Amino acid sequence: MARIISFSNQKGGVGKTTSCVNLAAALALRGKRVLIVDFDAQCNASSALGEFDKQPEHSVYSVLCDNLAASEAIRNSDIENLDFIPSSCDLAGAELELSQIVIGRERVLQDKLSEIEEKYDYIFIDCPPSLGLLTVNALTASCGVIVPIQSEFYALEGLSQMMNTIKLVKKFLNKDLEVIGVVLTMFDGRSKLAKGVLDEILKVFGDRVYDVKIPRNIRLAEAPSYGKPVALYDKKCAGAVAYDALADEFLSKEQ
Ligand SMILES: Nc1ncnc2c1ncn2[C@@H]1O[C@H](COP(=O)(O)OP(=O)(O)OP(=O)(O)O)[C@@H](O)[C@H]1O
Ligand SMILES: [Mg+2]
Repeated sequence: MARIISFSNQKGGVGKTTSCVNLAAALALRGKRVLIVDFDAQCNASSALGEFDKQPEHSVYSVLCDNLAASEAIRNSDIENLDFIPSSCDLAGAELELSQIVIGRERVLQDKLSEIEEKYDYIFIDCPPSLGLLTVNALTASCGVIVPIQSEFYALEGLSQMMNTIKLVKKFLNKDLEVIGVVLTMFDGRSKLAKGVLDEILKVFGDRVYDVKIPRNIRLAEAPSYGKPVALYDKKCAGAVAYDALADEFLSKEQ
């Protein structure tokens, strides 16, 4: 059965999608079978994997709201073992549609993914920058959360709200939910500010903070415009090397 992991932080632009896509790619290149679910109406994970159409016929929206089987929405990426379910701009309306379901509105994604769970080692959900019903669906379906945090002054802002949402999901919907890792992104080890932020984050999350930090690296920002994970775009750049090392650390903590 797949381990389902959400990449979540309600703060925007902190590296959720970049971390989800590139960690998934690094794992798939090690032979793990990985599925990415693009759960954000911005469709960034989909385009990073080569799907630039923001209204594909079969998407996670049709899985949630039109009762399409999850297996029908799965696409292959350019990496063997790495599949994805694309998003669509329609997903922006899904929160409202889901909210009208009387019973089980938080479990729609979990129910849908249960049909395909055995085909994968990992299912990574790229969450939107909000804590609405989509994120609650993702957290309810997941056994763990990876929180990407950008090493900047406002890094910890809003984190307590997110931890509270995780606590509530754990209490009422999914007792197994844990924060399994915190990844520092756009990290500059020479900056005093980044070190200060790291100290604060270590106080809150302790050994759940990955030793591997992701540096700011322009190649990571360029790769999505070619529809490729960084490992296929420039596997020797600092960003690709960092996500590759993160994959090793991630796997060592999985045992
Ligand atoms: N380590 C990095 N170095 C340089 N640029 C990066 C790095 N990580 C992410 N970026 C760039 O920063 C921007 C935000 O990253 P990303 O889309 O991964 O964040 P996000 O948290 O998923 O954003 P959103 O909340 O909008 O979904 C993107 O343009 C991305 O290419
Ligand atoms: Mg994103």
